[in-house]
Amino acid sequence: MEILVEKDALVSNMKLLRALSGGARFYAVVKSDGYGHGMVSCARIFLENGADALAVSLVDEALELKNAGIESDILLLAGFLPGEEEAVVRGGFEVAVSDRSMIDALGRASERLNRPVKVHLKVDTGMGRLGFMESEIASALDSISGYKGLKLVGVMSHFPVADEKSRESQDFTRSQIASFRRIVREHGLSSLSVVHLANSAGLLFYPDAVFTGVRVGIALYGGIDYPGLREAMHVRTRILSVKTVPPGWSVSYGRTYRTEKPKRIGIIPFGYALGYSRSFSNKAYVSVKGRRKPVLGRVCMDLTVIDLDGVDAHAGDYVYLLGGEGERISVFELSRWCGTITYEVFCQLGGGNSRIKRLV
Ligand SMILES: Cc1ncc(COP(=O)(O)O)c(C=O)c1O
Repeated sequence: MEILVEKDALVSNMKLLRALSGGARFYAVVKSDGYGHGMVSCARIFLENGADALAVSLVDEALELKNAGIESDILLLAGFLPGEEEAVVRGGFEVAVSDRSMIDALGRASERLNRPVKVHLKVDTGMGRLGFMESEIASALDSISGYKGLKLVGVMSHFPVADEKSRESQDFTRSQIASFRRIVREHGLSSLSVVHLANSAGLLFYPDAVFTGVRVGIALYGGIDYPGLREAMHVRTRILSVKTVPPGWSVSYGRTYRTEKPKRIGIIPFGYALGYSRSFSNKAYVSVKGRRKPVLGRVCMDLTVIDLDGVDAHAGDYVYLLGGEGERISVFELSRWCGTITYEVFCQLGGGNSRIKRLV
């Protein structure tokens, strides 16, 4: 199988999003292997086309970027695990700190190593995940200022429902923006270099969520529905075998699909072990020779059966599970067919180390 990543699409998305974010410091989020698109190559493309810095989740990812020769600033969105603090300081990474133990561990490490480290105070305004509660902010700021090596450069928070269109979600997101604005003002944080709240949906749908920084992930890869953004990922495999089965024949485990007439089927060496969800059984389409054709029966661990009626396709021909030429398969369809979000489809289909990833 192959994953093809369209460089042009990444470049064009980056430029569009850069323009929309104005002068805000633009953190391109490349965690989780660039949402399955290849972390290092995506990082280079984004930096060359307008990103100011990168953001990843944890230290290993930042080290991988650094070892690949990337010299930009890198923000650790989730902080670090106990024991990784010296690696963080040595790496010169920016860190989102979200509890007292992180501040203390990082503060002591920066003193031991005699090196400063840039920190962003992460505040929970409604995400209910990492971040200080509002009542803890004053004491967190005191602890940070107690360590001379800790340089507070930013304050941040995160949205849980900025991408949801219901009235309730929109009201919630607006109230978060208001709380964040008030917290920044009341704690005297507006003069920090980076005040940042917006993720992709924040940037695209809530212009007043853009303070002096943005952290943009999914939109860079085309996984959010917005005019002008392009999907970059294509996932393809090749037909392993073709055969014709008679009417009334059942296909694959569970016998959940039965032919009504003689049917030409193709078997592709791709299944849930490679991230093609079993929920695609009898639901998804693939693109073969520019035409959309359905998946027949259950997706297996390593094999899937597709309908080849009326398509002049043979063993060895390409089958696109995502993207394609002619009639394409979009990440929005795939996520609908298996009841998930575009993020998960990209990560599942693009994930794993043994995959071939090529920029085209
Ligand atoms: C703290 C934080 N900021 C920004 C992002 C980027 O979000 P999105 O991919 O929705 O742009 C993430 C991703 O999950 C995140 O965890």
